[in-house]
Amino acid sequence: MLKSIRNTVITGAALLAGFSLTGVQVAVAADATNGEQLSQTCLGCHGAPGLRNPGPVYEIPMIGGQHAEYIVSALKAYKDKTRSHKTMQAQASNLSDSDMADIGAFFAQMKGNSRPSLVNKAEAKAGEKLSASCAACHGKTGDGEQSSFPKLAGQYESYLVQALKDYRSGERNNLIMSGQATNLTIGQIEAMSAYFASQEGGLSAPESKIFK
Ligand code: HEC
Ligand code: HEC
Repeated sequence: MLKSIRNTVITGAALLAGFSLTGVQVAVAADATNGEQLSQTCLGCHGAPGLRNPGPVYEIPMIGGQHAEYIVSALKAYKDKTRSHKTMQAQASNLSDSDMADIGAFFAQMKGNSRPSLVNKAEAKAGEKLSASCAACHGKTGDGEQSSFPKLAGQYESYLVQALKDYRSGERNNLIMSGQATNLTIGQIEAMSAYFASQEGGLSAPESKIFK
């Protein structure tokens, strides 16, 4: 069932790509079918809900439904080591720019299946107030449209906390987010993560064949 939906989506994407060739601006279309092939190892970790990073322990991020442009820039950041996660550095090390674009297209086309996480309601409420300054880039609920800024809505709370701590400590280097995170307390990080995790989002941890 899921597979046939996926195939339909891919066919749709291919049709759209076909149409764009007749248009005035011809861009090299990313190939989601090739992206699916390149992503088989990735699905071992990103292809089932609730899998965890061994240490520090946090849930492996959902990347299904994430913006393609952001997936590509995240992969580049692992490849050039501005993000310190060793396993992801290894995963990205041999990917070319066009591989990354294809992988981004494959994951981005997935329909979201994330459910808002159960979080501490009072904490999420506090987080909503604190997150007003994040809305310009990530959207009010974290489900923003701008493709260079990741969707946060419905992402795992434990992962959002880890990412913000890593921007704060320099484990992740990003000019914008290091500035955003530098003065946050752990309480503020947890509150905003609870808020975004509890929102409806377009993210998904796709069910892969590996787990069927
Ligand atoms: C062994 C498990 C594992 C495998 C295999 C794996 N990943 Fe990951 N991936 C992770 C973890 C854990 C993180 C979070 C790393 C961090 O904290 O920076 C992550 C992060 C990411 C991110 C960043 C998500 C975000 O929201 O910033 C992307 C994109 C990604 N992986 C893509 C891939 C792709 C593409 C592959 C296959 C080529 C892959 N991963 C293979 C575990 C894995
Ligand atoms: C000016 C735009 C901008 C603002 C404002 C902003 N962000 Fe971000 N955010 C980004 C960009 C760009 C990235 C991707 C950085 C990277 O590549 O590592 C990001 C990444 C993140 C991530 C990592 C998501 C993931 O999937 O790994 C989290 C969590 C996050 N932001 C939370 C916040 C919070 C909380 C605020 C408000 C306090 C905020 N951001 C404000 C632009 C912004």
